[in-house]
Amino acid sequence: MQRFAVFVSGNGTNLQAIIEAVNQKKIKAELALVFSNNRKAYALKRAEEAGIKTLCLVRKDYATPQSYDRDIVIYMKEAKIDFIVLAGYMKLLSAFFVKEFPNRILNVHPSLLPAFRGKQAIKDAFTYGAKVTGVTIHFVDDKMDHGPIIMQEGFKIPPDDTLEMLEARVHTLEHSMYPKAIQLYTEDRLKVGKGRKVRILERPKVEHIH
Ligand code: GAR
Repeated sequence: MQRFAVFVSGNGTNLQAIIEAVNQKKIKAELALVFSNNRKAYALKRAEEAGIKTLCLVRKDYATPQSYDRDIVIYMKEAKIDFIVLAGYMKLLSAFFVKEFPNRILNVHPSLLPAFRGKQAIKDAFTYGAKVTGVTIHFVDDKMDHGPIIMQEGFKIPPDDTLEMLEARVHTLEHSMYPKAIQLYTEDRLKVGKGRKVRILERPKVEHIH
Protein backbone atom coordinates (compact mmCIF):
# COMPACT_ATOMS: atom_id res chain seq x y z
CA MET A 1 0.00 0.00 0.00
CA GLN A 2 1.27 3.50 -0.82
CA ARG A 3 2.04 5.83 2.06
CA PHE A 4 1.05 9.48 1.95
CA ALA A 5 1.40 12.63 4.00
CA VAL A 6 -1.16 15.43 4.32
CA PHE A 7 0.20 18.98 4.67
CA VAL A 8 -1.95 21.42 6.65
CA SER A 9 -1.81 24.93 8.06
CA GLY A 10 -5.23 25.54 9.59
CA ASN A 11 -8.56 24.05 10.55
CA GLY A 12 -8.19 20.72 8.76
CA THR A 13 -11.74 19.96 7.62
CA ASN A 14 -10.32 18.49 4.41
CA LEU A 15 -7.90 16.43 6.48
CA GLN A 16 -10.89 15.17 8.47
CA ALA A 17 -12.69 14.13 5.29
CA ILE A 18 -9.53 12.33 4.13
CA ILE A 19 -9.13 10.54 7.49
CA GLU A 20 -12.73 9.34 7.27
CA ALA A 21 -12.27 8.18 3.67
CA VAL A 22 -9.16 6.23 4.68
CA ASN A 23 -11.00 4.63 7.60
CA GLN A 24 -13.87 3.67 5.32
CA LYS A 25 -11.37 2.30 2.77
CA LYS A 26 -12.59 4.77 0.16
CA ILE A 27 -8.94 5.78 -0.05
CA LYS A 28 -6.80 2.68 -0.17
CA ALA A 29 -3.52 4.14 0.97
CA GLU A 30 -1.89 4.66 4.33
CA LEU A 31 -2.08 8.14 5.82
CA ALA A 32 1.34 7.90 7.46
CA LEU A 33 2.00 11.49 8.51
CA VAL A 34 0.37 14.90 8.93
CA PHE A 35 2.78 17.79 8.48
CA SER A 36 2.14 21.38 9.49
CA ASN A 37 4.08 24.64 9.23
CA ASN A 38 1.91 26.06 12.01
CA ARG A 39 2.04 24.77 15.58
CA LYS A 40 -1.42 26.17 16.31
CA ALA A 41 -3.15 24.42 13.40
CA TYR A 42 -6.31 22.72 14.66
CA ALA A 43 -5.64 20.10 11.97
CA LEU A 44 -2.80 18.76 14.16
CA LYS A 45 -5.31 18.02 16.92
CA ARG A 46 -7.52 16.17 14.46
CA ALA A 47 -4.55 14.06 13.38
CA GLU A 48 -3.54 13.28 16.96
CA GLU A 49 -7.10 12.29 17.81
CA ALA A 50 -7.08 9.93 14.85
CA GLY A 51 -3.80 8.42 16.04
CA ILE A 52 -1.81 9.68 13.07
CA LYS A 53 1.82 10.70 13.44
CA THR A 54 2.36 14.45 13.22
CA LEU A 55 5.31 16.66 12.40
CA CYS A 56 5.52 20.43 12.73
CA LEU A 57 8.42 22.50 11.42
CA VAL A 58 8.24 26.27 11.52
CA ARG A 59 9.81 28.32 8.74
CA LYS A 60 11.24 30.97 11.05
CA ASP A 61 13.43 28.36 12.74
CA TYR A 62 15.35 28.07 9.46
CA ALA A 63 17.75 30.50 7.80
CA THR A 64 16.39 30.13 4.26
CA PRO A 65 13.31 28.76 2.49
CA GLN A 66 15.64 26.23 0.82
CA SER A 67 16.97 24.82 4.10
CA TYR A 68 13.38 24.56 5.39
CA ASP A 69 12.16 22.62 2.37
CA ARG A 70 15.28 20.46 2.35
CA ASP A 71 14.56 19.38 5.91
CA ILE A 72 10.91 18.57 5.13
CA VAL A 73 12.05 16.41 2.20
CA ILE A 74 14.43 14.52 4.51
CA TYR A 75 11.56 13.80 6.92
CA MET A 76 9.32 12.66 4.04
CA LYS A 77 11.99 10.26 2.82
CA GLU A 78 12.57 8.93 6.34
CA ALA A 79 8.84 8.28 6.66
CA LYS A 80 8.88 6.57 3.22
CA ILE A 81 6.20 8.89 1.87
CA ASP A 82 5.16 8.06 -1.70
CA PHE A 83 2.93 11.06 -2.34
CA ILE A 84 1.77 14.27 -0.67
CA VAL A 85 -1.67 15.81 -0.32
CA LEU A 86 -1.92 19.54 0.45
CA ALA A 87 -5.07 20.35 2.40
CA GLY A 88 -5.11 24.02 3.27
CA TYR A 89 -1.30 24.19 3.31
CA MET A 90 -0.72 27.92 2.93
CA LYS A 91 2.94 27.90 2.02
CA LEU A 92 4.37 27.80 -1.46
CA LEU A 93 6.55 24.75 -2.03
CA SER A 94 9.92 25.50 -3.63
CA ALA A 95 10.98 24.21 -7.04
CA PHE A 96 13.47 22.00 -5.21
CA PHE A 97 10.70 20.39 -3.16
CA VAL A 98 8.38 19.86 -6.14
CA LYS A 99 11.20 18.23 -8.13
CA GLU A 100 11.57 15.65 -5.37
CA PHE A 101 7.91 14.63 -5.87
CA PRO A 102 7.14 15.20 -9.57
CA ASN A 103 3.38 14.88 -10.18
CA ARG A 104 3.17 13.29 -6.77
CA ILE A 105 1.76 16.31 -4.89
CA LEU A 106 -1.97 17.11 -5.02
CA ASN A 107 -3.69 20.31 -3.93
CA VAL A 108 -7.28 21.42 -3.42
CA HIS A 109 -8.18 25.02 -4.20
CA PRO A 110 -11.55 26.64 -3.41
CA SER A 111 -12.25 28.25 -6.81
CA LEU A 112 -12.30 27.39 -10.49
CA LEU A 113 -8.65 28.02 -11.35
CA PRO A 114 -7.17 30.08 -12.88
CA ALA A 115 -9.75 32.41 -11.33
CA PHE A 116 -9.11 33.57 -7.76
CA ARG A 117 -5.73 32.14 -6.86
CA GLY A 118 -4.32 32.77 -3.42
CA LYS A 119 -5.24 32.42 0.20
CA GLN A 120 -8.80 33.75 0.24
CA ALA A 121 -10.34 32.54 -2.98
CA ILE A 122 -13.90 32.10 -1.67
CA LYS A 123 -14.03 35.63 -0.31
CA ASP A 124 -12.44 36.99 -3.48
CA ALA A 125 -15.02 35.26 -5.71
CA PHE A 126 -17.81 36.49 -3.42
CA THR A 127 -16.72 40.14 -3.33
CA TYR A 128 -15.95 40.10 -7.07
CA GLY A 129 -19.60 39.26 -7.62
CA ALA A 130 -18.85 36.02 -9.47
CA LYS A 131 -22.00 34.13 -10.53
CA VAL A 132 -20.25 30.79 -10.70
CA THR A 133 -17.50 29.27 -8.60
CA GLY A 134 -16.33 25.83 -7.52
CA VAL A 135 -13.41 23.64 -6.55
CA THR A 136 -10.22 22.62 -8.33
CA ILE A 137 -8.03 19.64 -7.53
CA HIS A 138 -4.66 19.84 -9.25
CA PHE A 139 -1.11 18.56 -9.28
CA VAL A 140 1.34 20.96 -7.71
CA ASP A 141 4.15 22.68 -9.56
CA ASP A 142 6.37 25.46 -8.25
CA LYS A 143 3.90 28.26 -9.06
CA MET A 144 1.05 29.06 -6.73
CA ASP A 145 -2.27 27.31 -7.48
CA HIS A 146 -1.04 26.47 -10.94
CA GLY A 147 -0.22 22.82 -11.82
CA PRO A 148 -2.17 20.47 -14.15
CA ILE A 149 -5.86 20.21 -13.29
CA ILE A 150 -7.12 16.81 -12.16
CA MET A 151 -10.74 17.62 -11.40
CA GLN A 152 -12.96 20.69 -11.39
CA GLU A 153 -16.56 21.15 -10.38
CA GLY A 154 -18.49 24.37 -10.51
CA PHE A 155 -21.86 25.62 -9.37
CA LYS A 156 -24.00 28.74 -9.66
CA ILE A 157 -23.78 31.02 -6.65
CA PRO A 158 -27.32 31.60 -5.36
CA PRO A 159 -27.93 35.36 -5.47
CA ASP A 160 -28.82 35.61 -1.79
CA ASP A 161 -25.80 33.69 -0.51
CA THR A 162 -23.84 35.26 2.32
CA LEU A 163 -20.09 34.68 2.40
CA GLU A 164 -20.60 32.09 5.14
CA MET A 165 -23.15 30.20 3.05
CA LEU A 166 -20.84 30.19 0.06
CA GLU A 167 -17.93 28.97 2.20
CA ALA A 168 -20.04 26.08 3.45
CA ARG A 169 -21.03 25.12 -0.11
CA VAL A 170 -17.43 25.17 -1.32
CA HIS A 171 -16.17 23.17 1.65
CA THR A 172 -18.86 20.50 1.26
CA LEU A 173 -17.86 20.12 -2.39
CA GLU A 174 -14.16 19.90 -1.48
CA HIS A 175 -14.83 17.20 1.09
CA SER A 176 -16.63 15.05 -1.47
CA MET A 177 -14.20 15.64 -4.38
CA TYR A 178 -10.80 15.41 -2.70
CA PRO A 179 -11.00 11.82 -1.39
CA LYS A 180 -12.15 10.68 -4.86
CA ALA A 181 -9.20 12.38 -6.53
CA ILE A 182 -6.79 10.88 -3.99
CA GLN A 183 -8.18 7.39 -4.61
CA LEU A 184 -7.82 7.87 -8.40
CA TYR A 185 -4.20 8.79 -7.77
CA THR A 186 -3.59 5.70 -5.66
CA GLU A 187 -5.09 3.55 -8.43
CA ASP A 188 -2.56 5.13 -10.82
CA ARG A 189 -5.39 6.41 -12.99
CA LEU A 190 -4.26 10.02 -13.35
CA LYS A 191 -2.06 10.49 -16.39
CA VAL A 192 -0.44 13.84 -17.05
CA GLY A 193 -0.09 14.12 -20.79
CA LYS A 194 1.46 16.76 -23.03
CA GLY A 195 0.89 20.29 -21.84
CA ARG A 196 -1.37 20.41 -18.84
CA LYS A 197 -3.97 17.79 -19.75
CA VAL A 198 -4.66 15.17 -17.10
CA ARG A 199 -6.51 12.09 -18.32
CA ILE A 200 -8.52 10.00 -15.90
CA LEU A 201 -8.16 6.39 -17.00
CA GLU A 202 -11.07 3.98 -16.84
CA ARG A 203 -10.87 1.30 -14.21
CA PRO A 204 -9.38 -1.82 -15.83
CA LYS A 205 -12.05 -4.42 -16.60
CA VAL A 206 -12.00 -7.44 -14.32
CA GLU A 207 -11.86 -10.67 -16.29
CA HIS A 208 -13.76 -13.52 -14.76
CA ILE A 209 -11.91 -16.77 -14.90
CA HIS A 210 -14.14 -19.82 -14.65
C1 GAR B 1 -9.73 24.90 1.90
O1 GAR B 1 -10.86 25.60 1.46
C2 GAR B 1 -8.70 24.79 0.79
O2 GAR B 1 -9.28 24.67 -0.48
C3 GAR B 1 -7.98 26.11 0.93
O3 GAR B 1 -7.84 26.27 2.31
C4 GAR B 1 -8.98 25.70 2.96
C5 GAR B 1 -8.50 24.84 4.09
O4 GAR B 1 -9.56 24.41 4.89
N1 GAR B 1 -6.72 26.11 0.23
C6 GAR B 1 -6.25 27.14 -0.43
O5 GAR B 1 -6.80 28.23 -0.46
C7 GAR B 1 -4.93 26.89 -1.17
N2 GAR B 1 -4.61 27.97 -2.01
P1 GAR B 1 -9.39 23.20 5.90
O6 GAR B 1 -8.13 23.50 6.72
O7 GAR B 1 -10.62 23.22 6.76
O8 GAR B 1 -9.24 21.94 5.11
